[in-house]
Amino acid sequence: MTISQALIKAYPKLQVPPINSAYLDAELLLSDVLKKPREWLLANPAERLTKKQTEKYNELILKRTRRVPIAYLTREKEFYGRPFYIDERVLVPRPETEIMVEEVLCHCEESRAARGDKAIPVSSAITTRLPRFAAKGDSLAMTIVDVGTGSGCIIITLAKELQYCKNLKFFAADISSGALAVARQNARLHGVDKKIKFLRGNLLRPLFLKIKNYKIKNFFIVANLPYLTPAQIQQSPTIKHEPKLALNGGADGLKYYRQLAVQLRQFNIKYPNISISLFCEIDPTQSKKIKKIFSFAKKVMIKKDLAGRDRTAVVKF
Ligand SMILES: C[S@@+](CC[C@H](N)C(=O)[O-])C[C@H]1O[C@@H](n2cnc3c(N)ncnc32)[C@H](O)[C@@H]1O
Repeated sequence: MTISQALIKAYPKLQVPPINSAYLDAELLLSDVLKKPREWLLANPAERLTKKQTEKYNELILKRTRRVPIAYLTREKEFYGRPFYIDERVLVPRPETEIMVEEVLCHCEESRAARGDKAIPVSSAITTRLPRFAAKGDSLAMTIVDVGTGSGCIIITLAKELQYCKNLKFFAADISSGALAVARQNARLHGVDKKIKFLRGNLLRPLFLKIKNYKIKNFFIVANLPYLTPAQIQQSPTIKHEPKLALNGGADGLKYYRQLAVQLRQFNIKYPNISISLFCEIDPTQSKKIKKIFSFAKKVMIKKDLAGRDRTAVVKF
């Protein structure tokens, strides 16, 4: 069978029931099987597949008709312009989470500007809007913690984007040992495994057990915790293939953010001089409730995603 025949055979299979990205998916999966870029497939339609390649391709197409996310089939997903290894132990990184990463980088820049240091504008992975920390020796005395790290896409992106900054510490926590194994693998892939400490446990608890000596007075905590309701999970044919532990946030989706609020409140009472900025990804319907959950904080701001929906809560303690 040739490339063009394989694609022509696959398209209709993916269109029943319709998958919006049927053409793209068929090409991505074939490109994965042949280990060639998509453009190469289109430029070489008469090239023949071996028997083994045909079998592998048919197997992947069958899984895709069952709505297994493409990233689980190709074992890769791009996040903030970088490739991440992905498998069934972790949530597939979402583009809306890149907005939260942008927000964190913006606040890092503000922290530095507030100290009167000069920013050095360079282009970033997804936008040229923001200045970046590009000069060797820039200093930002702070600890950045990613709670519910999953594939590690958030903390690894931050470690890469802030790679030239001194005095930064990075932690990534997750309750799932499978997720932590994937995050470590991705950290090695991007050369930041020595920079990030990985911790297993419930939300911030392993961090609080680990850090005894609070020399650093500035914490940035980034959390994309499970925030979907069981009904939302049930409604989506692709989401149900992802780990429940990464998705289900209880009856109103906010169970984990409530627990996180309790942990942060206790910490804040014990260490009132440590400044904490918390960044949480939320469902657009949850902004009112999240403001209430963190009403004990100094300030809660809601930021919108590119579609104009409430998506990130920024909480200052
Ligand atoms: C929505 S996923 C986010 C993954 C990744 N940060 C991202 O943005 O793609 C939530 C993650 O939180 C983890 N998680 C769930 N309950 C947790 C808990 N009690 N403590 C720490 N992590 C938890 C899950 O294992 C999962 O990896």
